[in-house]
Amino acid sequence: MSNKIQSLSGYIHEYQKSVNEPEKFWARIANSFHWHKPWDKVLSWSSEGPHVKWFENAKLNITENIFERHLFTHGDKAAIIWEPNDPKEQNRIISYRELYELTCQFSNVLKAQGVNKGDRVIIYMPMIPEASVAMLACARIGAVHSVVFAGFSSSALADRIIDCEAKMVLTSDGNFRGSKNIPVKAVVDEALEKTSTVEKVIVCKRTNAEVTMVPGRDIWWHDSIKDQSLEHKAESLDSEDLLFILYTSGSTGKPKGVVHTTGGYMVYTQYSFENVFQYEQNDVYWCTADIGWITGHSYIVYGPLLSGATTLMFEGVPTFPHPGRFWEIVDKYQVNQFYTAPTAIRALQAKGLEPVNPYKLDSLKVIGSVGEPINEEAWHWYHDHIGKGNCPLVDTWWQTETGGIMISALAGITPNKPAHASLPLPGIQPIIVDAEGNELKGNNVEGNLCIKFPWPSMLRTTYGDHKRFKETYFSAYPGTYFTGDGAKRDHDGYIRILGRVDDVINVSGHRMGTAEVENAMNEHPRVIESAVVGFPHDIKGQGIYAYVICDQEGISNEALIQEIKNTVRKIIGPIAKPDEIQIVPGLPKTRSGKIMRRILRKVASKDISNLGDTSTLLNPEIVDQIIEGAQIK
Ligand code: PRX
Repeated sequence: MSNKIQSLSGYIHEYQKSVNEPEKFWARIANSFHWHKPWDKVLSWSSEGPHVKWFENAKLNITENIFERHLFTHGDKAAIIWEPNDPKEQNRIISYRELYELTCQFSNVLKAQGVNKGDRVIIYMPMIPEASVAMLACARIGAVHSVVFAGFSSSALADRIIDCEAKMVLTSDGNFRGSKNIPVKAVVDEALEKTSTVEKVIVCKRTNAEVTMVPGRDIWWHDSIKDQSLEHKAESLDSEDLLFILYTSGSTGKPKGVVHTTGGYMVYTQYSFENVFQYEQNDVYWCTADIGWITGHSYIVYGPLLSGATTLMFEGVPTFPHPGRFWEIVDKYQVNQFYTAPTAIRALQAKGLEPVNPYKLDSLKVIGSVGEPINEEAWHWYHDHIGKGNCPLVDTWWQTETGGIMISALAGITPNKPAHASLPLPGIQPIIVDAEGNELKGNNVEGNLCIKFPWPSMLRTTYGDHKRFKETYFSAYPGTYFTGDGAKRDHDGYIRILGRVDDVINVSGHRMGTAEVENAMNEHPRVIESAVVGFPHDIKGQGIYAYVICDQEGISNEALIQEIKNTVRKIIGPIAKPDEIQIVPGLPKTRSGKIMRRILRKVASKDISNLGDTSTLLNPEIVDQIIEGAQIK
């Protein structure tokens, strides 16, 4: 049974039902899935804990809802189309039946290697079908996967292994990305020197790079599957059993492990996928994200596969071997729904229309955007030149924590408005609040974005630290989930996301905590103190601007800046490398010792026209020195 909304009036009707009787609404949606045992209660919610449970005491396996539910009807249909980094290499088209067999086989491997229900498995792999197989096999046996983006450094990987006490790491020999050949296994080896819980490492062959295999610990993927059966009986799991942990950055401290559970996540990712993209059974759908991020989890793997869709998985980058690669792939596979990030759109827009013109792009029915606010110029370029003016553009707002798309147009059903995420999905109750937490009702209001009622795919906790969960999401406005984003409801009632209001910056759609980058820079022996802010960047959306106080004896500015950038690269990974580093004699601080970041943001943005009140600063003279150092004309 499809739960697809077909018209604007249908949306309004469903939305009303979802708000008036949420439990009845979600029970109806959930009924179209296969459960071993039905739930006793649809929702248990206490804002005190906060504790949330969906489909309490129900039993299921999410992979049965992908495979067994679909095998009879479309076992031969393509589940994954894999396009390699290098277009000269052979692509792979994997049917539902083949993906089922690969998953069963690898489930048997995991069991044979001692992984059991509840154990944590780190997946540090490139964009190859085996990465999806790894996720699905964990889900099938009830192990908890934690995918770590394969661009993170060994120390970032080690932090995550330690935090979730992982028993196993799944990785590859190397990773092809554009013209680069990245040694992945070596990064894992380095990380494992700092950790003690990992018993086995399974290595998938991808680049044929030379790797060191540690006897007794490391196993080749192809050897491990050799004698394993192509069948595996799925574990019966509780709806609230952990499905995965995904680490994401916040305002303070190290990245936290966002916990998602099985039943609610399954229901919501499938429902949102089908409705936002208006997926039809013979469509080819492509999301360009990496499986290391939530977008890859929910809208490359789970949402599409639960819907029986054909999902395209691309190993490479948009500009390799030429800047028309995305469009070439769209034409090659006749892609119908295309979902990408504004940073990619802006980067391709900057190359002009020449790389776009050779391609027809006439298979496209829906185009989507995710990860950061899309500026109007990029929206129009995407809409006019890629969507050819006749594809709905869904600007989808959501977060690692929300598990699925929360605010977005439903393609062709609800109206499109440039740069507006627009309207909430059924079941989602966003509110805009002022600094005191008063709900700002009506239109033409601006404030902080909160969600006032639970939804099935919301995070349940931060792994191993429920107190942090409560403090991060439920303490600013008690009882209400605070997103960390600012938003505006315009005169027509459409929501526009204004960006983060906390100390999180969004660089090329990647979420980064300023404190995290500062901590990494502070590891450099010459750095005494640092402060990081975001600044507007034409392609990346936001760039990273760092102010550092240093001991500079005997070293030039340039050399030191390079060293500090490399330190960040080593500790977190290339995506966190500051764009600008300014060495400063001091930082503007209030009498209580707090850095006045507002001023630093203004200077980084080269906008010093109105710096606001600086009278509470302990050291107001530093502001002029910083401005002078920034060489703002
Ligand atoms: O600031 C919002 C921005 O990305 C943040 C969430 O980042 P992450 O957990 O990494 O998930 C990204 C992919 C879902 C949000 O708090 N963001 C995400 N989508 C949009 C967005 N900002 C504006 N418009 C969007 N469509």
